[in-house]
Amino acid sequence: MNIILLGPPGAGKGTQARLLADKLRLCQIATGEILREEVAKGSDIGLKVKPIMESGKFPSDDLIMDVLAEKISNPECGNGVILDGVPRTLNQAELVDKMFEKLGKSLDFVVQLRVDDEQLIKRISGRYTCQSCGAAYADQLNPTKVKGVCDRCGAHEFIRRPDDSAEVVKTRLDVYQKQTEPLVGFYSKTNRLKSVDGMAAVDDVQSQIVDIIQSR
Ligand code: AP5
Repeated sequence: MNIILLGPPGAGKGTQARLLADKLRLCQIATGEILREEVAKGSDIGLKVKPIMESGKFPSDDLIMDVLAEKISNPECGNGVILDGVPRTLNQAELVDKMFEKLGKSLDFVVQLRVDDEQLIKRISGRYTCQSCGAAYADQLNPTKVKGVCDRCGAHEFIRRPDDSAEVVKTRLDVYQKQTEPLVGFYSKTNRLKSVDGMAAVDDVQSQIVDIIQSR
């Protein structure tokens, strides 16, 4: 099964992709996370994308598609993939279709997570993740049960993303609206779009997605 999660920054793509990947034994391919790993390593790709990501804009489609091609053809992903954060431009969407075709796979559906801007800003500006296991939290909406201790793995170190500052979040939402939102029309025209209420609690959003999968 191959699924795309589509939605603005903070919509819950990463949160839902991790849960679904565990449940359905699919590979989660999160281009944002892959790029952040490259930045942390200080690789050539990392050096190139660091200032672009920190400004809230997109690196080139060519770079993104190279990153995706390497991951998607991994034999460990034979059971299927969940694309989290890719595609995000119409050009990327067309190239992803071609990529699946070339690999003899097909895209089952695209799940759009609908969340209003006020909620997105609250989620992102308060976000922190566990440095050990990557579990995501938010100051106001979803804090750790015990302050400073990860619910999932018990670690004490957390990180905040440089692109989560109020000013950059504004740019990210703007860029989403201009470059990524047109994908809603692209996928609905070809009857591949399913839409869920991303404002609901994490488990409820997950149930909505599982219902879509089961009604296939
Ligand atoms: P990326 O890392 O993909 O970031 P993003 O799309 O901006 O999305 P986020 O990770 O901020 O949010 P999310 O939707 O995953 O939500 P999350 O689950 O974390 O990309 C970063 C950058 O990389 C881009 O700006 C760009 O520069 C570059 N890039 C990446 N891919 C690219 C591509 N294809 N093309 C070009 N450039 C690319 O949840 C957010 C918070 O909300 C968390 O704290 C979470 O705990 C909380 N939360 C989640 N769900 C709920 C819920 N239902 N209720 C309450 N809280 C919730």
